[in-house]
Parts: sequence; C-alpha cells; structure tokens
Amino acid sequence: MDLVIFAHPQRMGSHNGALLQLVMETLKASSRPFELIDLYADGFDPLLNAQEYGVTVKVGTPRSDPLVAKYQQLITKAERLIFIYPVWWYGAPAMLKGFFDRVFTPGFAYNFKKMPPIAAAVKPVLPALCSIGACYPIFLSQMPVDKKLAGKRAIVVNTYGGGAEGFSLFGRAPEFSVDKAVLGFCGISPVKRISWWEARGEPIVPERVKKQIEEALAR
Ligand SMILES: Cc1cc2nc3c(=O)[nH]c(=O)nc-3n(C[C@H](O)[C@H](O)[C@H](O)COP(=O)(O)O)c2cc1C
Repeated sequence: MDLVIFAHPQRMGSHNGALLQLVMETLKASSRPFELIDLYADGFDPLLNAQEYGVTVKVGTPRSDPLVAKYQQLITKAERLIFIYPVWWYGAPAMLKGFFDRVFTPGFAYNFKKMPPIAAAVKPVLPALCSIGACYPIFLSQMPVDKKLAGKRAIVVNTYGGGAEGFSLFGRAPEFSVDKAVLGFCGISPVKRISWWEARGEPIVPERVKKQIEEALAR
C-alpha cells in the first residue's frame, strides 16, 4: 500500500493541490491501493507539548492522541510513503516538521543502540569526512540506530518559489533535513526526490515534473 502525506493548507488552487490530484489520479489509474493523510484537513496539532514530551523520552509508550496512533498504523501498513509539500525557508512547513516530531517516535520509527566499536572509532574523524562529502553514507552505515522503518521507500515531491540555484546555495537543506536526517535515519530507502522549481502563477504541473512523478509512481 502507498501512503500519501500532504502538508499544505490549501488543496484548491495551490501548486501542491495540483500535485496531490495528479498523484492520486495516477495511483487510481494504475489500481495501486493508497491511503491519504491530509495534515491540515485532519486538524493535526504539530506541537510536541510538555505532556507528550514526557512520554517521548520514555521509549515505546503508546500515544494518547488517536491521530498519532492512526498515522503510525498507516505508516506500518505502507510499503511506500509519498510526501507532497512546499519548501518554506528551505525546509518543511512546521506542520510536517511537527508530524515527524510527534509521529516518528522512538520505539516506533527508530531506537538508539549501543555504539559499535567501529562507529566509535570513526566518530572523531566525522567532521573531516563531512567536509569532503563522504560523511553521510559512512555515518549511516555505522550509526548505532535500529532503523525501524527499514524496508519502506519514499518519494518526496516539493514545490519551490525559487529555482534550483537556491537549493544548491542553501546546501540542499530540504534534502538533508527530511530525506536523510529523518527518512534515511529511520531506514526509509531509497528516497526519490522530485522538485517543481519556480512554482508561481497558474498551478499547472509542468510536463517534466509530471513525467518524473508518473515514472516514480510506476516503480
Ligand atoms: C512561509 C514561506 C516560506 C517560503 N520559503 C521559501 C524558500 O525558502 N524557498 C523557496 O524557493 N520558496 C519559498 N517559498 C515559496 C513557496 O515554496 C511557494 O510559494 C510554493 O512552493 C508554491 O506552492 P503552492 O502554490 O502550493 O503554495 C516560501 C513561501 C512561504 C509561504
């Protein structure tokens, strides 16, 4: 089953709404079963509050918010997660950030393990490895984390007001903060990233983006 996670306040008339429509139509046309989480329409509260923070530090404690429990069940059932959201301040909207804070909990999405000796040995040289771009794959393979969402894959579809140069200029921040630091950290791999640059004016999905989405969904 595919799970579509939509994080935009407006479905009608927005570029993200057009992407959601395209994704759902494509999945329906190929008879692939899917479920939709529309975070704003659900009225999801993205704030990890004091009471829930107390629970978060006690790994494995079930959540009292039925929406969190429902979302975790949907993620468990899903083989692939499809995220659709705009890039705001070169990151995810607070709504999606809060979804990760409250739903990708320790015990559900990951668990820390004791650090293996090789990881402990690599740790001091990590900053140097990072500076030559070799850090991420090494760190990920050695990370003392039980990646509880391993076996799932993801597609991340983002819209930007700016162009590809902004993405590079700001260090590919949307990719690092979500695809790697959240999804990869919890074992979700591969993550296919699709970008709609300069999503301004009429919300009509450009052919290039449409083709990329259709190809990715067919896999
Ligand atoms: C709060 C906010 C922050 C934004 N930050 C960025 C940004 O960092 N980089 C960028 O390219 N566009 C930025 N934008 C523009 C949006 O990404 C763009 O308007 C949106 O992707 C268009 O899709 P929509 O019609 O579905 O909202 C921002 C927009 C808002 C409202």
